[in-house]
Amino acid sequence: MRTQVAIVGAGPSGLLLGQLLHRAGIDNVIVERQGADYVLGRIRAGILEQVTVNLMDEAGVGARLHREGVVHHAIDLAFDGRRHPIDVHGLTGGKVVTAYGQTELTHDLMDARRDENLPTVYEAQDVAVSGFDGTRPQVQYRKDGQLHTIDCDFIAGCDGFHGVCRASVPRDAIREYEKVYPFGWLGLLADVPPVSPHAIVYANSERGFALCSMRSLVRSRYYVQVPLADKVEDWGDDRFWDELRRRIDPELAERVVTGPSIEKSIAPLRSFVAEPLRFGRLFLAGDAGHIVPPTGAKGLNLAASDVKYLSTALIEHYRERSDTGIDHYSDRALRRIWKAERFSWWLTSLLHRFPEQSVFDQRIQEAELDYVVHSRAASTALAENYVGLPL
Ligand code: APR
Ligand code: PHB
Repeated sequence: MRTQVAIVGAGPSGLLLGQLLHRAGIDNVIVERQGADYVLGRIRAGILEQVTVNLMDEAGVGARLHREGVVHHAIDLAFDGRRHPIDVHGLTGGKVVTAYGQTELTHDLMDARRDENLPTVYEAQDVAVSGFDGTRPQVQYRKDGQLHTIDCDFIAGCDGFHGVCRASVPRDAIREYEKVYPFGWLGLLADVPPVSPHAIVYANSERGFALCSMRSLVRSRYYVQVPLADKVEDWGDDRFWDELRRRIDPELAERVVTGPSIEKSIAPLRSFVAEPLRFGRLFLAGDAGHIVPPTGAKGLNLAASDVKYLSTALIEHYRERSDTGIDHYSDRALRRIWKAERFSWWLTSLLHRFPEQSVFDQRIQEAELDYVVHSRAASTALAENYVGLPL
């Protein structure tokens, strides 16, 4: 088989890239290790920056997102027994974020790809990439016992943190930066109305961090910070709801509607960046190149901005025979990535209880929270990062 761009991974990065390239007349094939249902079963964050919403429109798949996504003008920081609203809309000259689950976004992209009969190989085994340092890159995989080879001009590594693309780069050509946090997030999804439908609540309490989020007006997503040693089995639904209510202010806790969980899982928190993101004819995009802790919901949005830079570069290559965008892809993407890394790290540090935290550290955290909610400059810095820095 031959194509112009072989995309490894059918998560949001790979699917969005495939759609944007297709609309620009560039052939692409996606090779995915899992089945489509497995990909859709992974529950991830669901707060979209305007940049991400615009890109979904550009890809021609924004209709349901505009119909069903819930626009948020504010967030709440909860500490000291009360909530402190941050008027994100007012502080950023009218910018907003949209609550719409990653699962739904992935669904829309998969549907569009299927409707347009674009080639996607699911359940591909032993995917391998080669030849990207020369002029003849290849992607190989096994399916139904047969070995398949895709010859291509470029390979897009959209295969997530544990993918094969980054792992196939010579060790001396790549540098990795990492920070692992000493706690995880236990998340619960339930078909109950969200306690705060118009503003995500980020809570710093003496029992640890908690987050009240949503997928729609009838589906809620909540999280509590837990020790890394905890297992999901330790957390029955009742224990989760009790713990959540103890970490938010009493007025809000009173209004939480509980119900059986549809999904419950523990995610570790990590910051990670690989540099560079281009190796000859191989590009890394999304989680393949970087990870952020979920605080601030930047993971999916960063994947989308990588894809914007990469699709623009590839379109320039084919349409204008210019490689300027390709040559600058890594630097451009990394500038935005590091700022989102900084923001996610900062918000994580501000809102969580760290095992080693001294009483001094604790007081500093309280002072910073007080500063953030009472200083217009500090609130504005939070707000402009939350809605997403310009491309
Ligand atoms: N071969 C083919 N596909 C692979 C391989 C492989 N060797 N390894 C992984 N994959 C697939 C995974 O099964 C997954 O479907 O690549 C896909 C990567 O998808 P994501 O992990 O969702 O990464 P990405 O598309 O970059 O999306 C980033 O997802 O993890 C969240 O917080 C993150 O929201 C952000 C978004
Ligand atoms: C979510 O809805 O899952 C979510 C929202 C905000 C975050 C992280 C996760 O910062």
